[in-house]
Amino acid sequence: MQSIGFLGLGKMGAVMAPRFIDAGFALTVWNRSADKAQPLSDAGAAVASTPANVVAAADIVISMLRDDAAAEQVFLGRDGLLSGNVAGKLFIEMSTLRPETARSLAERCKQQQAAFIDAPVSGTVAPAKEGKLMALVGGSDADIERARPVLDVLTRRIVHAGPVGQGDMLKLVLNLPLAVYWQSLAEATALGAAGGLELATMLDAMADSGAAIKVLPLKIPLIIEGSDYVAFDIATMEKDARSIVETGNAFGVPMPATSASLETYAAANAEGLGAADAVAIVRRLSDNYGAAD
Ligand SMILES: NC(=O)c1ccc[n+]([C@@H]2O[C@H](COP(=O)([O-])OP(=O)(O)OC[C@H]3O[C@@H](n4cnc5c(N)ncnc54)[C@H](OP(=O)(O)O)[C@@H]3O)[C@@H](O)[C@H]2O)c1
Repeated sequence: MQSIGFLGLGKMGAVMAPRFIDAGFALTVWNRSADKAQPLSDAGAAVASTPANVVAAADIVISMLRDDAAAEQVFLGRDGLLSGNVAGKLFIEMSTLRPETARSLAERCKQQQAAFIDAPVSGTVAPAKEGKLMALVGGSDADIERARPVLDVLTRRIVHAGPVGQGDMLKLVLNLPLAVYWQSLAEATALGAAGGLELATMLDAMADSGAAIKVLPLKIPLIIEGSDYVAFDIATMEKDARSIVETGNAFGVPMPATSASLETYAAANAEGLGAADAVAIVRRLSDNYGAAD
């Protein structure tokens, strides 16, 4: 069985990486903050001291990092993934990145005789833990076939969107309505609150109507009571909304709704709410207009 390297043990990586131990792969992990690797070490993974050391120990290397800057740092930085001999390795980049970042990392891999696919995911921490993510993949048929047994450990479905970069393009497309949905729910409940409705009443009726999305019922307790449990935080949503708007700008596609949501996520982040779940923007706005539970 092939050996796997896994970098980035944040909210997603922490539940994805252990699946490889359970599936019988030899696993080597790395995380910028070393303490987050301890549970993996306890479960039987080897812990590398640098990204370069992960590559030395693994045939296939998965990364699940915060953003474009993190991926560039981990691939191209000192002791980074591409700092040594990587010929023959396959990199599966699963963070949500801009398509151009994926293409530029793939080009660097190609120059060093390594393969690269982008495979960002749809689905959050709970499906990640159960191996039920949907991977949105960009790359060649051959590289994706090579990645398939590894992706199967993490996913219920693999969508081949096109060449490298198109996995990330599709991920931005899927995240757009989600970013805008929480913004629209924030506005809707602010309107209702200003008109004297209770937040719980609004959300209960909303969840049972055509205005609900699939995850809304799961998120309602989080919106009403708040919680320490965070699946997808406001800072990450701001990052994705910004990537969407700027990618839209580059193509000349107007993004008025996503731009409005970006302003909201950025303002919430600036207020110190960056680590809160993205749905906290609903409560943040409706509270200002007197929503009661
Ligand atoms: N959470 C979700 O529900 C979800 C769903 C689908 C897709 N995604 C995407 O998946 C990716 C990971 O999300 P997450 O929620 O797991 O994020 P997270 O909890 O914030 O974890 C981010 C990870 O990136 C690492 N990192 C950040 N900056 C770095 C840098 N400059 N150099 C090296 N490592 C760096 C962090 O290391 P430290 O521990 O040292 O900070 C951590 O391991 C993101 O691209 C996100 O958009 C998330």
